[in-house]
Amino acid sequence: MKKKILVTGGAGFIGTHTVVELRHAGYEAVVLDNLCNSSPKSLERVRELTGGVEVPFCRADIRDREALDALFSQHQFEACIHFAGLKSVGESVAKPWEYYENNIVGTLTLLDVMRRHGCKNIIFSSSATVYGDPLQIPITEECPKGQCTNPYGWTKSMLEQILTDMQVADPEWNVVLLRYFNPIGAHPSGRIGENPNGIPNNLMPYITQVAIGKRECLGVFGDDYDTSDGTGVRDYIHVVDLAVGHVKALEAISRRCGLAVYNLGTGHGYSVLEVVHAFEEANHLKIPYVIKPRRAGDVAQCYSDPSKAERELGWKAQYGIFEMCRDSWNWQKNNPDGYGD
Ligand code: NAD
Ligand code: UD1
Repeated sequence: MKKKILVTGGAGFIGTHTVVELRHAGYEAVVLDNLCNSSPKSLERVRELTGGVEVPFCRADIRDREALDALFSQHQFEACIHFAGLKSVGESVAKPWEYYENNIVGTLTLLDVMRRHGCKNIIFSSSATVYGDPLQIPITEECPKGQCTNPYGWTKSMLEQILTDMQVADPEWNVVLLRYFNPIGAHPSGRIGENPNGIPNNLMPYITQVAIGKRECLGVFGDDYDTSDGTGVRDYIHVVDLAVGHVKALEAISRRCGLAVYNLGTGHGYSVLEVVHAFEEANHLKIPYVIKPRRAGDVAQCYSDPSKAERELGWKAQYGIFEMCRDSWNWQKNNPDGYGD
């Protein structure tokens, strides 16, 4: 019998790619999503990429205890991969209550329903943002967590603590905290990808929208950092590599890992201008840009030491910056308006 995995937020950017990889690895994925930041069409595309079998889907909110209870009564889940959450940094500063309520109350409700149904295996989407301004570069998992600069980041940091405390109190839990660095790219088919609402906050979606003519010019936030060319350095990771990381984390859970924390990054830092130039080279396009002031809350450099995930999970990123730029553009140009709804 195939192992059944609940994927909350499975209609979103990272969720859809993960459902594809789960299905390829022989798992059965059931998606729960309230579609507040995604389209149901994304799951039709996932079906198309994975042999045509419909993806079981429950449109519900993780704060809806009854809906979760009904779903757990209907299915025997091996584990939950928990992506559902609000993720816009700027919006979280404007609407902190909404962020804490959605992300924290939602996760607490999910955890309670899980334990009542005897499912105590969870993989949680955390972020490199929990390191704050990192004390060491490259960042290992031992690097202390830092001060987050926004409520979104705090929800990740607090949820890591809540999950850790629950695992300590009840060692039947297996908890994997995955700290993502900067996910970009898209499935190489160009059928699923990131579909931001409004003006993109993040670098790659902004670049692809300039490339397609939706925005005139990229603003580069600061060129006076202490980095090779003065612009901010990040560890960009292809979303398909990230998705595969979740499949590997499930294997760790089946080995009863207890509490485990992993950075998911490539270990390579690229500056904003290096990304712009890589995008131009990979896609034979020109991206106009202007230097703007620094963005509040940004750090100069943030890149991972991903060796723990390689050692313990046998996971290592396979794609480089060229493929990330190629696949981001392939998705954008084939789907100028995302899923078109
Ligand atoms: P996304 O917005 O595309 O996906 C999140 C999904 O969760 C969406 O489909 C949304 O509709 C759903 N959702 C939100 N609140 C919900 C609720 N209360 N009930 C049910 N569904 C709900 O985002 P993503 O980029 O795929 O990110 C997935 C997870 O990874 C998030 O938790 C995010 O914070 C985390 N993360 C993302 C990044 C990134 O750069 N994309 C980096 C680090 C961590
Ligand atoms: C941001 C969030 C982080 C979140 C992550 C999700 C902030 C402060 N941090 O990380 O909490 O987990 O997204 O992917 O928002 N840049 C530009 N011009 C742009 C956009 C970005 O120059 O229009 C620069 C930034 O200054 C930074 C780099 O590009 O140096 C990457 O930015 P971004 O994609 O927003 O990611 P992070 O800031 O690393």
